Amino acid sequence: MATLLSCFSLVVFALGSLVPLHFAKSLVFADLCFGTYALQSSVTGTARANAGGRLWHSMGDEELLRRASAVPRAVESRRKAKKVAFMFLTRGRIPFRVLWERFFRGHDGLFSIYIHASPDCEEEPPEASVFYMRRIPSKPVEWGGPSMLEAERRLLANALLDACNERFVLLSESCIPLFDFPTIYNYLIGSALSFVSSLDDPGKAGRGRYSRRMRPTVTLAEWRKGSQWFEVQRGLAVGIVSDRRYYPVFREHCRPPCYVDEHYLPTVVAKLAPGLNANRSVTWVDWSRGGSHPATYKRRDVSLGLMERMRRGSKCVYNNNNNNNNRTTTSSSCFLFARKFEASALGRLLLIADAAKRWN
Ligand SMILES: *[C@@H]1O[C@H](CO)[C@@H](O)[C@H](O)[C@H]1NC(C)=O
Ligand SMILES: *[C@@H]1O[C@H](CO)[C@@H](O)[C@H](O)[C@H]1NC(C)=O
Repeated sequence: MATLLSCFSLVVFALGSLVPLHFAKSLVFADLCFGTYALQSSVTGTARANAGGRLWHSMGDEELLRRASAVPRAVESRRKAKKVAFMFLTRGRIPFRVLWERFFRGHDGLFSIYIHASPDCEEEPPEASVFYMRRIPSKPVEWGGPSMLEAERRLLANALLDACNERFVLLSESCIPLFDFPTIYNYLIGSALSFVSSLDDPGKAGRGRYSRRMRPTVTLAEWRKGSQWFEVQRGLAVGIVSDRRYYPVFREHCRPPCYVDEHYLPTVVAKLAPGLNANRSVTWVDWSRGGSHPATYKRRDVSLGLMERMRRGSKCVYNNNNNNNNRTTTSSSCFLFARKFEASALGRLLLIADAAKRWN
């Protein structure tokens, strides 16, 4: 019970507080959990025992990253279906678990789920859930600091251990899917490119965060900015977990107000595989209200109109392959996921998802 309550209060805190991004980024979530830790210690014995699921292992980060970069792609002749790895970087529980469960239902074998959660929150979802025992060995995450990137690399590395995983998407607990599973699966598996937003922003929050001490490993001209919420194909995922060249430089020289999660991947992907990136994210986020934090949708904001705008309100290029212009198609579906939603929006989101199913 203590565990349940503490995980719950954590989520309420995380979602309920509309703290500006620069403030949120400086919150150390280990500290948030600290107050509940003493309470939990009496029950952690059982929770730890439960954690011995398939995903649990005792590899340290070094060994994990090394092993992950060596797992070959599943051989085509084995006729195993390619899978999409859904990687959840969360603080506590996933408030939209029920929505996601409906999304995944009936598609076993085409996806895998990985959860990196605060080590202090040990609540396990029900056994029947697709989220049951999908937690990977996790460490405390400081929002916006290098530990965030380490968590992302840990997620990628764990997901790479499954040779069938072909596409890897990072999600947060405030993310929702915008389409049904087959649509999202086909969009990702069928894409020639990865979706990592990456742009050269001349402003203070872009080039302004570059440190000349990164030279010559990263030059100002190579410096990129983008959203943290990425989607990559397998080859690029391997490149990211095996990177020993750029990561130490970012760790050392990208400190607040330089946020490593907004610059490392956008820059490194542009260096490693510029021709393999669509340079845009498939995760919708609304910065239009200005300021340093995106809009958070509450229950009353959720409407069919909003969902339609997210689903089809933008124009972008899908599968723009420069060597093969006839594969170029302009798509009005640019976003597959959206954030940020408050937990209170769940009821309405379920209603809308149900209604959409009936119309199809
Ligand atoms: C993405 O950006 C890189 C440079 O950072 C560029 O070389 C590449 O052509 C861009 N890709 C697309 C699809 O625009
Ligand atoms: C692209 O166009 C060329 C020439 O018109 C054709 O030979 C080729 O098969 C096409 N490729 C695809 C993928 O449609």
